[in-house]
Order: sequence, then structure tokens, then C-alpha cells
Amino acid sequence: MSLILGIDTSCDDTSFAVLDTHKGSILSNVVSSQTKIHIEHGGIVPELASRAHLENLSAVFNESLHLAGINLSDLNAVAVTNTPGLIGCLLVGTSFARGLALRLGVPLYGVNHLEGHLFSPFIGASEIPFPFLGLVVSGGHTAFYQVDAVDQIKLVGQTVDDAAGEAFDKCAKMMGLGYPGGPVIDKLALSGRDNAFAFTIAKVKMGEQYLSFSGLKTAAFQHLQKINTALDDGLKNDFSASVQKAIVTTLCQKMDYFLTQHSYRAVAVSGGVAMNSLLRKQAGVVCSRRGVLCRVAEPAFCTDNGAMIAFVASLSSHKDQLFELQTLATKKTPVKRGVAQSK
Ligand code: KG4
Ligand code: ZN
Repeated sequence: MSLILGIDTSCDDTSFAVLDTHKGSILSNVVSSQTKIHIEHGGIVPELASRAHLENLSAVFNESLHLAGINLSDLNAVAVTNTPGLIGCLLVGTSFARGLALRLGVPLYGVNHLEGHLFSPFIGASEIPFPFLGLVVSGGHTAFYQVDAVDQIKLVGQTVDDAAGEAFDKCAKMMGLGYPGGPVIDKLALSGRDNAFAFTIAKVKMGEQYLSFSGLKTAAFQHLQKINTALDDGLKNDFSASVQKAIVTTLCQKMDYFLTQHSYRAVAVSGGVAMNSLLRKQAGVVCSRRGVLCRVAEPAFCTDNGAMIAFVASLSSHKDQLFELQTLATKKTPVKRGVAQSK
């Protein structure tokens, strides 16, 4: 049995997970969310986030071993997110991981957080169908990747302004709903009419490979100004359904476009917004029309989690991407900046 401990402290979730690489199963995946700490500030405060990681770390770590039913000495490797993320938060996780790996005398893997999301739809799958089109969609990222192999990842498209999750959050805020807004909009939309408010799907002049959500935010603001009264429940539902439809249509139209650009075997959708019920459904519709497999990350692996970090380490380990302890902070990220020109 080979057991990898996966650690993610890149943003506002402290997460530890244990992956059994032989069975290909996650034995535990414990996440401690800091939403309550940051909610009163209307966003994440980096200093508070780092401190909360320090406070939570031991309890979450112990719980992950306990739920996995293993002892500390059973661990065969440690994997930790080393980029991208809030630097203070990353340092808490990487310092802990270094100390632990040294103490146990086991290998240490530095994992790119975005690669964690990108591969998360395949946790527990018997194989990864390369090449696949990856959509990472969260509060900070909205990007499409062409993934030809574990270490061949090409950014092919991304938002030029807001991330899709940010669009959900900002529209929810305009309606006076809480943070994070995505889950609330998802729920209210179930009882709303998605054609009650008109939104146009943005076309970005820079090229077909780009997406934009800032116009949607402005349009949402203008719609609400026109209403000019307090929103009753019916209007909130209608507005949520219309906003959600616009965001999901933007993502799915782009997904469809990329499927015409390359011969993909699958689409993999990941990140916090992959929790969205309409996106989960519509991604399946696009994929079946194009005859490709659709994999959407399991809800537990959509938001930040240690399981996806351990999983990427397990994929990379046989490819000799092992990190020397000293070079942990200097791992070159294979996810490149800038969008590759589409054909
Ligand atoms: O991946 P994540 O936990 O954090 C990062 O941004 O890295 O994603 C959080 C984002 C938030 O913007 C939140 O509103 C959105 O994911 N989200 C959703 C849903 N659940 C979470 N958006 C739409 N529908 C949901 N059900
Ligand atoms: Zn994330």
C-alpha cells in the first residue's frame, strides 16, 4: 500500500487528505473552511487566512489520519500545494509539509494548485482519457486547457476580466444575498424564470478563445436600477435564474467552440463553480452532442481540497517530478501564462 498525504492551504480552506495509490481511492479528505472569518470583511483577508491555517492545521491533519484509519508512520509521501496562492497561506502548508517529510524520511511533492483542479474530475477513475479539454472555473479562475498528458498542459483560453465565480458573487451581492453568491443563486434559480431578464453573451474582440464576464455584471446592475424597488422573492428567483443561465451559456458555448478546435476524448470541469447544477447538466449536453466523455469533479473535490493535490502527486510520481526538499519553492509551473493561439 502506498499512502500520499495531500495538503492544500493556498487560500481560505485548510485541507488534508490521504490517497491510497494502489486502490486509487481517497481514504479521507478533511476541509476546514474559513468563510465565517472572512465573511464580515466581504472578501478574503490574507493575514487572517494565514493565521487561521496555522491554528487549524494540526486538528485537520490529525482528523485526516484518523478518518483514513492510519498512523503517521504509514505515510509514504507528502504532497503540498506550492503555487499559486496567497504567499503567507502557501508558506504555512509548505513549511509543515517540509517538516513532516523530513521527520518521516519520505518524498515531498510540490503541486501546482491549478493542476490539482484540472485533474480532480478523474479522482477514482480507472484511466485519464488524453487528450482532454479542461475547464477550471472558480472564484479566481476561468480557463480552458488542452491536456495531452500529465505534463503536457496548454492554456488555450481564459477570461479577460472577471472569473465566472466572481460574476456569480458580484451579482448575488447586488441582490443583497450573502457571500459566496454562487450557491445561493444556484438555489434561487430553481424557482425562477431564466428568460425574465435579458443578458447578451459577450464576444471578446481579442479572439474566439477569450471569455468576458464584466459586461454581464454591468447589465445586471442596470437591470436592478430599472426595477428601482426592493426585490421580492419572485424577482430574486427570476434574476438568479437569468444570471445563472447567462454565465453557464457563456461557459458552454466556449466549451463547444474548443471541442471544434482539437480532437478531444473528454471534457473535465472543475473548481468551485463546477458545483453549479445547471453547469453540470449543460456540460453533459454539450459533450454528448460532440460525442466526448463528460467528467465533472465530484462536489467534494470542486472547492479547494487536499485530495486533488495528492492525486496529482500520484500521477506525477512515476514521471520523476519528485522534488528535492530544498527546491520546493522553486517548482516551475507547467501551466503557462498567456493564451496560446487557437488554430
Ligand atoms: O474553487 P473555489 O472554492 O475557490 C476559489 O475561487 O479558488 O470557488 C469558489 C467560487 C465562488 O465564487 C462561489 O460563488 C462559486 O465558486 N460557487 C458556485 C457554486 N458553488 C460555489 N457558483 C455557482 N454555483 C454553485 N453551486
Ligand atoms: Zn482553488
